[in-house]
Amino acid sequence: MWNDLKTKAAAVADRRIETLFDDPDRARGFSVSALGMLFDYAKTNIDADTRAALVALLEETDLAARRDAMFSGAAINETEGRAVLHTALRNLDGDAVTVDGQDVMPGVRDTLARMEDFARAVRCGDFQGQGGAITDVINIGIGGSDLGPAMAAKALAPYHDGPRCHFVSNVDPADIADTLAACDPATTLVIVASKTFTTIETMTNARTAKAWMGQAVSDTGAQFAALSTAADKTAAFGIAPSRVFGFEDWVGGRYSMWGPIGLSLMIAIGPEAFRAFLRGGQAMDTHFRAAPWAQNMPAMLALVGLWHNQVQGHATRAVLPYDNRLARLPAYLQQLEMESNGKRVSMDGEELSFHSGPVVWGEPGTNGQHAFYQLIHQGTRVVPCEFLIAAEGHEEGLEHQHRLLIANCLAQSEALMKGRDLDEAREKVAGKFEGDELERQAKHRVFPGNRPSTTLAYPRLDPETLGKIIALYEHRVFVEGCVLGINSYDQWGVELGKELATALQPVVDGEQSADDKDGSTAQLVGYLRANGA
Ligand code: F6P
Repeated sequence: MWNDLKTKAAAVADRRIETLFDDPDRARGFSVSALGMLFDYAKTNIDADTRAALVALLEETDLAARRDAMFSGAAINETEGRAVLHTALRNLDGDAVTVDGQDVMPGVRDTLARMEDFARAVRCGDFQGQGGAITDVINIGIGGSDLGPAMAAKALAPYHDGPRCHFVSNVDPADIADTLAACDPATTLVIVASKTFTTIETMTNARTAKAWMGQAVSDTGAQFAALSTAADKTAAFGIAPSRVFGFEDWVGGRYSMWGPIGLSLMIAIGPEAFRAFLRGGQAMDTHFRAAPWAQNMPAMLALVGLWHNQVQGHATRAVLPYDNRLARLPAYLQQLEMESNGKRVSMDGEELSFHSGPVVWGEPGTNGQHAFYQLIHQGTRVVPCEFLIAAEGHEEGLEHQHRLLIANCLAQSEALMKGRDLDEAREKVAGKFEGDELERQAKHRVFPGNRPSTTLAYPRLDPETLGKIIALYEHRVFVEGCVLGINSYDQWGVELGKELATALQPVVDGEQSADDKDGSTAQLVGYLRANGA
C-alpha cells in the first residue's frame, strides 16, 4: 500500500494544486465539517484516488477495531502493559469503561467532583492561605504536567475569573525565582503536578517553593496540593490526602489535562467552563467513533499528515494558529506528537523501515509571517502548514482587527498554493530595472507555490471548542501511530538523558572527577566550573 501511495505521489509531483480546483466541488469534497468546525484540506495535492488509497491504509490497519480497543480499556500501551483511557476523563455522560473488569467511571466522577469542590472553595475564598483568600496559584510540573494546563490557561484567558495562575516547569532557577518574586506566600496555593512524583525538575522546584513559603507561613503543607498517581510520595512530601487528586496509570502524561492535571485551569476558569472543555473533548470522541473515515476529522487530519511526511517525505510540519491565545499550542503539540510518535521500532521491536513522526513546530500568525515564513514561501524545503483560525474573536469593538487576522491567514495559504511565476515577478519590477538586472531582480521575487496547507476553522476559541481541538489532535496521533505500527503511548527516549544528568550532577558539583567522561563533556565541565558553576 505504501508503494502504491509513493507511485501516486511520484505521478502527481509536478501537478499544480490549484488545477485541482477545476473541479467546482473541490473545496467541499476535500473538507470535513463536523461539530461546527471546518477542516479544509483542499489545498493539498490529495485527489480522490489518493484519498481512497489513504483510507484503505486505515482499513488495512483495522483501525476501527484498534480504536474500539482503546476506548474499551484494552492494554494497547503494550510496552508498559497499560490501557490508554484519557477519554474516560471526559466521558461525562457515557457508558461504563472497564479496566481489568472494573468500571473506572465512578472513580473518575468522584475525583472530578472533589476537584470541583476544591476549585470552588479556592475561587470563593472558603479555602484560604495564612494571609487570606488565595490570590495566586502556582502549578509546578513539566512536560504533560505543565504544557496542557499552561497552553489552555492562555487559550482561555477571556474565561479566566479566578486567582492569577502561574506555571513553573524548568529546573533553571530563573523560572521559579521569577514566579515566586511575583507572589505573596501567605496568599499563594502551590500545586505540585507530577504523575510519578519523582521527576527531578518538579520535585526540586517543589522543595524550593516549600522553603520560600516556609519563610512566611507556619503550616506550608496546608497551602500545597498534589496531582499524582503516587499517593505514598505525596504524603511523604507533607500534603494531606484531602488535597491530593489522584489518577491512574492509564492516563498518559501528555494526555492528562482532562483530569487532575487540569486543576489549575479549573481554578482559573471555574468548574462550569472546565466541564464545557470536557464536553468538547467528549464530542470529538463521539465523532471519531462514529463518522466514516472520509468524513472523520481526526482520521483525515492523520491521513494528510501521513501523506505529507511518510509518502511525500516532508520532514517537518508547521502548526500556525492565527489565534494569539494559542501561542503555546505548537509546544503542546510538540510533546503530544513527537513524544508519542517519535519512535524507531515498531510495536514488535523491529526497526522501522520508514520515518516515524515529523518534526512539529510553529508560532502564531501573524508574527511568524515576519520571521520564518520567508523559508516557507521561498526556501528549498517544502513545509506543509496547518493553519488554525476562529471566525470571531472575543474583543468587542476590535472586530475589524480580527477580520484583518482572517485575511492574513487565508492569504498565506493562498500564496503558498499559487505562488508567483517569473512573468508576474517581471511585471512587479518592470519600470524599476531593465535588461539583465530586471531578470536578476525578478528571479528573487518568484514564489514557486504548490506548497500544501490545511486550515482548521472554528467559530470561536471557547472552552468547548478548545476541548474539540485538543481531542482532535490526540486522535490524530492515535491514527498515525496505528498506521505506522508503533506504540504512541510510551516514551523511553527521554530516559537516557535523565540517567546521564543524574550521573553528571556530582561531576558538576565538583565531588567527582570528569576524567572518565568523553573529552568534550570533560572540557565543558571544566569551562563551566572555572567560570562559576
Ligand atoms: O520525561 C518525560 C515525561 O515522563 C513526560 O512524558 C511527562 O509528561 C513528564 O515527563 C512529566 O512527568 P511527571 O508528570 O511524572 O512529573
